[in-house]
Amino acid sequence: MSSETVQAKMQSRMARAQEMREEEKIFRYKGVLYPTIMSPLENLKAMEDLEAREDDVMLVAYPKCGFNWTVGVLRKIIDASTGEKRDSKMPPVIEFFDPGMQQRLSQVPSPRFLGTHMHPDNIPPSFIAKKTKMLVIFRNPKDTAVSFYHFSTKNPVLPTPESWDKFYTEFMSGDVPWGSYFDHAVAWEKRMDDPNVMIVTYEELKEDLCKGVRQISQFFSFDLSEEQVQAIAQDSTFDAMKETSKDSHGPLSNVFFRKGVVGDWKNHFSEAQSEAMDAEFEKHLAGTKIGAQMKYELYCK
Ligand code: A3P
Repeated sequence: MSSETVQAKMQSRMARAQEMREEEKIFRYKGVLYPTIMSPLENLKAMEDLEAREDDVMLVAYPKCGFNWTVGVLRKIIDASTGEKRDSKMPPVIEFFDPGMQQRLSQVPSPRFLGTHMHPDNIPPSFIAKKTKMLVIFRNPKDTAVSFYHFSTKNPVLPTPESWDKFYTEFMSGDVPWGSYFDHAVAWEKRMDDPNVMIVTYEELKEDLCKGVRQISQFFSFDLSEEQVQAIAQDSTFDAMKETSKDSHGPLSNVFFRKGVVGDWKNHFSEAQSEAMDAEFEKHLAGTKIGAQMKYELYCK
């Protein structure tokens, strides 16, 4: 899909959102909230039968954990290793595809690049049956909540939060699109030893992007030279991606590429909110592998 078509689609979705009442912008399916415009019920139902392939490149992330960053990294990895430039600008989120588009996926040549924000238990079962490799991006919960808050205030397809405090409460109770952050993290913890699952954190990518590019390409068995790794990392910094996002994300470029730092939570959380999040982390993720990988003590205290 050309960038003009993607941008036209975005504009029409934003126009539709402007005519909707706030409460119409989200709906509940199987107990979890979803955005009506992006992931209507018909998409979610059709997706349950989506046929995966063993060689699909599947990217999974709870919202605001760095999905679009990793989309950029993976696109560059695939292009560099296959030697072809694919022109798709569409975010490859399967629940955003209408049932017709989901069907047409069967005609897309391998390797298909797909993604989702769905809870692991709600990813189409075919991905598990086919043992499709899944790269999962996680981010510390405090920065994720802050990023989600700003995204919701600026993206017209989502209900606008009344305030940071109100949004924080909704985030903590899981009453945000795609559900509870902690439910997702706890579910991925159970899959940490699955050889077809690799978890990478936003903070690890910030620490050493070259290492992240190497890890990700090796996981999907894409061969890259060290020169290609360096070039991909260089083109995937926040500033580089923010610049190119004017083409890929059009009017929402500044919304998707906001600040791109670790620790912005310190500018938003009250002491009490921070302590309550620490207690929630302790309750769900203390002593877990995924919790250790997040380096909570370093990035959230
Ligand atoms: P902030 O809102 O904290 O700036 P997602 O793509 O999952 O919606 O995540 C969005 C977050 O990733 C935003 O965080 C965005 O700025 C950040 N991001 C996007 N590209 C990035 C990059 N190249 N480097 C670092 N952060 C990036």
